Amino acid sequence: MKFLLVTDLDNTLVGDRRATLTLNQRLVARRDHFYLVYATGRSLSSFQQLQQEFAAATGTQLLEPDYLVTGVGTEIYHQGQLDQDWAARLDQNWQRQAIALFLESFPVLIPQPEAEQNPWKISYYLQPPEISPNNSLSNSGDNPDLVSSILVRTGKFLRAEGRRSPQKLPNQSGDYYNSQVIDHLRSQLTAAGLAAQVIFSSNEDVDILPCQGDKGQAVAYLMQKLKILPQFTLVCGDSGNDISMFQQQTLGVIVGNAQPELLDWHNAHPHNHRYLARSTHADAIWEAISHFQLL
Ligand code: GLC
Ligand code: MG
Repeated sequence: MKFLLVTDLDNTLVGDRRATLTLNQRLVARRDHFYLVYATGRSLSSFQQLQQEFAAATGTQLLEPDYLVTGVGTEIYHQGQLDQDWAARLDQNWQRQAIALFLESFPVLIPQPEAEQNPWKISYYLQPPEISPNNSLSNSGDNPDLVSSILVRTGKFLRAEGRRSPQKLPNQSGDYYNSQVIDHLRSQLTAAGLAAQVIFSSNEDVDILPCQGDKGQAVAYLMQKLKILPQFTLVCGDSGNDISMFQQQTLGVIVGNAQPELLDWHNAHPHNHRYLARSTHADAIWEAISHFQLL
């Protein structure tokens, strides 16, 4: 019987080319034994860009997934087609315009580029604590130097060029500040009667999604479609937008290079179906497949 392998991309399946290639080689020989799903925060076009970059750099293609979950679970693709049932489900009780308008009044939220927005996902970068709240971006709107310095400091320019530079804040008070801001956002949305989830990743990304759509719920939907039981499903991730996958009753692996928001959550909600890998990136996926004896 096939098992279901669901993996995040950035800093899980990819991020260490040697590890990705090794895993690729191991899996390609056993491709009939599992369904493969990529569950990423990237948009479809950004995923395609990653595929091309990887192929150009290594001469090897990433494995072709059976399903592709993009935009933090807001879109599901199968053979290049958007799953319309999933889209219709996410449309319910989702007031995108009203939410985006409401969030304009939070200067700590810096909108991500248009390419990262979709009908069910509104994404921002969280302004780092050393600048806010006293020196908010709205106050610095006329001062391009200050804006640039904020963006440079948070690695946004590198990201805009398609390069990944996960940023870690230097101290725990930064993490504490971030979680306070996220809690505040959640309660403000609730108070305004706007149903949405707030997902915080990699110490900087803030995604606002419909309550019924995230990576975890997309995985549950695909498990049902493929008729795969939780004990034959392995989810793999490194950051906050993967938490919803780990909340499903499946097997899970947190890679050795995981982000603090995921480790904090894991420590607060330990589970014996969730494995904390010693190795990092794609090596951790193989470590977990062996640990759970899935192949
Ligand atoms: C990816 C997406 C970005 C999102 C982040 C965290 O980097 O491109 O829009 O905020 O994942 O989910
Ligand atoms: Mg990731």
